[in-house]
Amino acid sequence: MSELRAIAPLLDAYLSYFENHNLAFTIPGHKHKASLLDEGLGRVVDSDLPLYGGLDEIKLTNKVLEEAESLAAKLWGADWARFSTGGSTHANQALILALGKPGDKVAISRTAHRSVLSALVLSGLEPIWIFPELDSATGVPTGIPLSEIERVSELDPIAILLTEPGYLGTISDLAPIIEKAHTKNIAVVIDAAWGAHFGFGKAVPNHAIAFGADAVVTSVHKNLPGYSAAALLLVQGNLISRERLNQSFETTHTTSPAGAPLVSIDASRALLQLRGAQLLEDLVAHVSKFKVDIETVLGQEVFLALNDFAPGRFDASKLVLQTAGIGVSGVDLENTLAQRGIRVEMADRDTVVFLATLADTQEDFAHLTKAVIDSLLTLRGEERQVKVSLSWSVKPEQVITPREAYFAETVLVNRSLAVGRISADLIAPYPPGVAVLAPGERITETILDGLISTQADGVRIAYATDPSLQNFRVVK
Ligand SMILES: Cc1ncc(COP(=O)(O)O)c(C=O)c1O
Repeated sequence: MSELRAIAPLLDAYLSYFENHNLAFTIPGHKHKASLLDEGLGRVVDSDLPLYGGLDEIKLTNKVLEEAESLAAKLWGADWARFSTGGSTHANQALILALGKPGDKVAISRTAHRSVLSALVLSGLEPIWIFPELDSATGVPTGIPLSEIERVSELDPIAILLTEPGYLGTISDLAPIIEKAHTKNIAVVIDAAWGAHFGFGKAVPNHAIAFGADAVVTSVHKNLPGYSAAALLLVQGNLISRERLNQSFETTHTTSPAGAPLVSIDASRALLQLRGAQLLEDLVAHVSKFKVDIETVLGQEVFLALNDFAPGRFDASKLVLQTAGIGVSGVDLENTLAQRGIRVEMADRDTVVFLATLADTQEDFAHLTKAVIDSLLTLRGEERQVKVSLSWSVKPEQVITPREAYFAETVLVNRSLAVGRISADLIAPYPPGVAVLAPGERITETILDGLISTQADGVRIAYATDPSLQNFRVVK
């Protein structure tokens, strides 16, 4: 019996549908009985249920989605919430499309995800980049300093777009940033794709709505047990128009939302409400033990830790292993673990990120601990300097706007001729998907060499027209 069903209207609607006999002469075409056609196909699609004519009637008469969204808004202390089946990618795009009109300026953290940059192309908003501080010992971005917000506030952006937490779990000092922006009526919009668990109990930092952010986007499928591409958009205050938001949300969302992602957002909300604080405390305890167990065997610190950062500025559930100090390639560790059937979230030369969530058990951590220790003892080599990732350190020269570059006439040039040209592509190591080159930016020698050497270190360089990086698509 589902503990969450009584307080999760979409979960109740989903389970009720399958408890009642329905003869559907509607989409989806699998009719929940594709297994009659093929057992494999049936296993994939037969539990699929759409919103329209599934979770609710075709005419949405029961308003179950609205009810679930208002329960989510209430739990996070926001005024308004929408559930997306298109990930934080869609939620970011919908939100950014609602902010202003082509030509308006927005201040954006340079460590923004590609979905935020693609929203600039869609909306015609123009970026004023803001840059994080880097910790010299670890090479990790520690957040956007208040001085950056003071600098860009003078340039009259209509909004400030931040990515919090960053991919490595660090967080800017949000309260003074938001306060400063609000003195000039500038909206603060937070891409918290990796922070859906924030704000529930003392084990993790508070969420950005609690710090006064005007809007927050988060992926329920990343740090919570959500269905792939399930995302939540939360809004409060009066700096962002709900009418514009509803319009841009619907413009960019599918007209056939799948029920499972929506239900998983509702049920994850109910789980956080009932047991979030305890589950997160347990998770952080597992994560801390995992780190201690490994560092004890190695005799040195290898993980980013809470006390590396100011209070409240790091996600204690984040597992970031820095491999330079023990002379290991993060990509080699990734490959060694893969041979033992273990996948990691991200690996480059000097970093491995393991995603740990509420769904991981004590046994999972014990298994991972053993595999990581075995692998590291085998791979361990000479200590070397950390190479700061291009994703955190790039300082772009923007020549034309992302939208101008996107729609410009373009040509593919050999990489020997690319330096000095204007990139038409967005190019990013993936993960984390942070652009090293955005459309409209000049290709420099540092960026070109950096991309090529990052690829040589075994990292996937994504979204380039020519993924081998032999040629670059540039503005004609
Ligand atoms: C900071 C950030 N924002 C947005 C996204 C996109 O999220 P989704 O995969 O839910 O579309 C990601 C994905 O990794 C991300 O890291």
